[in-house]
Amino acid sequence: MRHLIDILDLSTAEIDELIAKANEIIANPAAFAHKCDGKILATLFFEPSTRTRLSFESAMLRLGGEVLGFSEASSSSAAKGESVSDTIRTVSCYSDIIAMRHPKEGAPMVAAMKSGVPIINAGDGGHNHPTQTLTDLLTIQREKGRLSNMTVGLCGDLKFGRTVHSLICAMSRYENVRFVCISPQELVIPEYLRQDVLRKQGIDFVETQDLESVMPELDVLYMTRVQRERFFNEADYIRLKDSYILNLAKLANAKEDLSILHPLPRVNEISTEVDDDPRACYFKQVACGRFIRMALIMKMLGVE
Ligand code: NCD
Repeated sequence: MRHLIDILDLSTAEIDELIAKANEIIANPAAFAHKCDGKILATLFFEPSTRTRLSFESAMLRLGGEVLGFSEASSSSAAKGESVSDTIRTVSCYSDIIAMRHPKEGAPMVAAMKSGVPIINAGDGGHNHPTQTLTDLLTIQREKGRLSNMTVGLCGDLKFGRTVHSLICAMSRYENVRFVCISPQELVIPEYLRQDVLRKQGIDFVETQDLESVMPELDVLYMTRVQRERFFNEADYIRLKDSYILNLAKLANAKEDLSILHPLPRVNEISTEVDDDPRACYFKQVACGRFIRMALIMKMLGVE
């Protein structure tokens, strides 16, 4: 039995297979409508979510399976003091696969040690978010036709943004990918990514606070929300929340084939005037999320 806790649990060959499968599903969804008949996905969300939880549920329903779960810790026995381990031992009696999101880093790993069924990490605190990364990779592959030979700008809250952490780990494994990390000094990437992932593998990256000066270099611009819920005090959040607001004026020097991604939800980081620009890909990215999760659920359940 395999779990998906970290994006590096999947090899690049497996990621490429998942992307190929998702593209097959997009081309012919009817062929997949009964692949998971009789199977149950549990979604255990101890933290808020719109896209991740609903795309997981939609994915399972579109495969012919069924879903159960909870969308807030307060409606589960966690509110009575139950441990993650006990909740997982229980839910694995009722389901074939579990997607869980939790505010504590490492909670899905603890869950995997006690679970009788595969666990998918749907976001753990400010740590990782592997299925958002699969969504991002499918989007980039569809937009650019490749995952190698490109400069990826990551902008916003690179400290607490879990989607950025998983994306750096995943894209570091593709050939000739260069990163430009754009953030306020207080929200730079964690030291473990700088040292153990980027420097250790000799990957080209720069860190800057200035989005406009690096704009012309970028093939992909990955915008992120400042992660209010991870801050220790509100004053810091208020000071940093509007550090970057992407608008059409700031895109003046961007490449014509730039792809702008954002895992969403957006607060202020992208002005709505950008939504109609052909370079805006964040709503296409939302759509990709369901298809790649369909491919992932099939793989993890061993469905051909
Ligand atoms: C992200 C998350 O939950 O980490 N959202 C998502 O899953 N699409 C990004 C965020 O909340 O800012």
